[in-house]
Amino acid sequence: MKLYEMTDEERIQYLLDHKYINQDQANLLSSRNPLSQELSDSLSENQLGVFGLPYGFATDVVVNGKDYIVPMSIEEPSVIAAASNGAKRIKNSGGFKVSTSSHIVYGQIVLEDVNENTLNLLQNKKSLILQIANGAHPSLIKRGGGVSSVEFVSYGDMIEVELGVDTVDAMGANLVNTILEITSRKVSEITSCNVLCSILSNSGEGQVVDVNAEVSFEQLATKKMPGEEVAERIVSLTGFAQKSVKRAITHNKGIMNGIDAVIASTGNDFRAQEAAAHAFAIQSGSYQPLSDWRIVDGHLEGKLTIPIEAGSVGGAISSMPMAQLSLSIMKIQNSQELRSVIGAIGLANNLSALRALVTTGIQAGHMSLQSKSLAISAGAVGEEINKVARELNRQKNYSLANAKEVLKELRN
Ligand code: MEV
Repeated sequence: MKLYEMTDEERIQYLLDHKYINQDQANLLSSRNPLSQELSDSLSENQLGVFGLPYGFATDVVVNGKDYIVPMSIEEPSVIAAASNGAKRIKNSGGFKVSTSSHIVYGQIVLEDVNENTLNLLQNKKSLILQIANGAHPSLIKRGGGVSSVEFVSYGDMIEVELGVDTVDAMGANLVNTILEITSRKVSEITSCNVLCSILSNSGEGQVVDVNAEVSFEQLATKKMPGEEVAERIVSLTGFAQKSVKRAITHNKGIMNGIDAVIASTGNDFRAQEAAAHAFAIQSGSYQPLSDWRIVDGHLEGKLTIPIEAGSVGGAISSMPMAQLSLSIMKIQNSQELRSVIGAIGLANNLSALRALVTTGIQAGHMSLQSKSLAISAGAVGEEINKVARELNRQKNYSLANAKEVLKELRN
């Protein structure tokens, strides 16, 4: 039986049988209680309950030779299907090749009311500032990270003290903010200037991931269109996105569909990820698509360069059982590996969206997957859901009014 034809319980059993999860994790999934009241109380304020999102997984994601199934949490029905679809075409052409830089998070201490000597004072005390900053979080050095750079940037009456911190496997927001606040006191003492604020930057420029994939023409063909033509049309559409900001935004949204879903399933900060990705897309001065597709030596080649702000330890990641489960299903060893897989999913979703757009159009696949939620919106329950969805797919009429009509006929 295909995974998408199974019930939830059968899929949980599949993960157990294939040793992706253990019995405790299977129980957690079956309990449908992803967060204890105690934990959600400690993560947020004024809580009323737990907001649910569907949790599933993409298959056939081969990154640097390792085969993953990738947990994704998202409410848009086609996203997991698209991720698996794109990943399989890439797997059949050799898989993703991903390289990551080290995990540097930048932070800013902003000094105000500076004078003409302030920059000099700071330059002279650079190694002292580095020492203070590294002393602020000694355990980080033990883990192989630490503050790796101190730079000063002048903005007239303000100066920024910029720290670059290798946060190893942590996403690093709390860690960097702690280091900044401790260091800022010394910086203020050295310069006799006021500190306006100390905060990390979500620029993500120290966390860039390079994802590359080849796709054979054979893997791109549809019943009606040869693979080479599909490839040419994908290249043309990417070229259009390089000229049209409106298209580039949607092109990137398709990439973020996959990325955000894995960021969410691993307990990472999707706001940080979004901020970093779109800032990166506009770094040249005009908003650009984050991926590029070209035809090289008789096949399609895709490249996605994007900051991925994700950690594999710390904060909510370590405390939320479902985040732990996601990392365990992927057998993630460190944040480099996690960031590589997240980047790969982004390119998989992008390929799948572009291939659909330049061939059948997006609605055929989209709406047939949406039909179940349409059936539920129309009032279908239990067995009725699949029956109404099947009828909507047969008729290819996906309005809510039609779903209600189909349900009415079914009940009669
Ligand atoms: C829909 O969620 C995402 C797409 O619009 C992406 C794209 O247009 O490339 C299909």
